[in-house]
Amino acid sequence: MRFLIFSDIHSNLEGFRALLSRIRNRKIDAYLFLGDIIGYGANPNEVIELLSSLPNLTTVMGNHDKAVLGLGSHEFFNPIASSALNWTEKRLNKFSVEFLSSMKRGPVRLKNGVCLCHGSPEDEDYYIFTPEDAYDSIEFSGERICFFGHTHVPVVYEFRGEARYSVYYPLDEGRSTIRLKPSFKYMINPGSIGQPRDKNPRATFLIYDDRRGIVKFYRINYNIRKARKKILNAGLPEILGDRLLDGY
Ligand SMILES: [Fe+2]
Repeated sequence: MRFLIFSDIHSNLEGFRALLSRIRNRKIDAYLFLGDIIGYGANPNEVIELLSSLPNLTTVMGNHDKAVLGLGSHEFFNPIASSALNWTEKRLNKFSVEFLSSMKRGPVRLKNGVCLCHGSPEDEDYYIFTPEDAYDSIEFSGERICFFGHTHVPVVYEFRGEARYSVYYPLDEGRSTIRLKPSFKYMINPGSIGQPRDKNPRATFLIYDDRRGIVKFYRINYNIRKARKKILNAGLPEILGDRLLDGY
């Protein structure tokens, strides 16, 4: 099967539309979204409506999705993220609240040895930035492959045991393909659609083909200026628009 795996849309309708138009003619069997549909951007209801229309969709709840529903406190959020959450909370329509409430808390385990989570399998608020954390997470999950989001940085951690690992950052433009080795374990982050943070402003996602054992990363252009302008016009913190221009 071919899985489209994407994360951290953060109410960025332009980024999300660019993703959907890029894959329009590709065969996708299932859609796996790793959380944070809302927060930061100007179109929370529109992105939720679009996401909910995808067939064979599995979602896990992100920390922003959780916080906007009032599940847990805002203590992990900086003042800018917190003010965007308050802005979002006031604008969510009934359908959006119902959709957010229906998202599953991670980890979600698929039948093919794959685990999905937002931050880590243990905690959607936890950031995995090191091979050591990634190793602990894959062991905790009990699966061979785990897809995670939250950091907004595309990366593959490959393990041949605790102390033997490789790290791949698929930073090149266009596409990059990584072939998964059957006896190794993997923690894989597709990056972010709505707010990339690896100094590349293009939206990023991946397609996982479990039959061929291949993960293909994509980086795509989208109308960043329009997304930024909407953020400014909405009265959201300016920095949330400006950071889209540089991808930080
Ligand atoms: Fe996020």
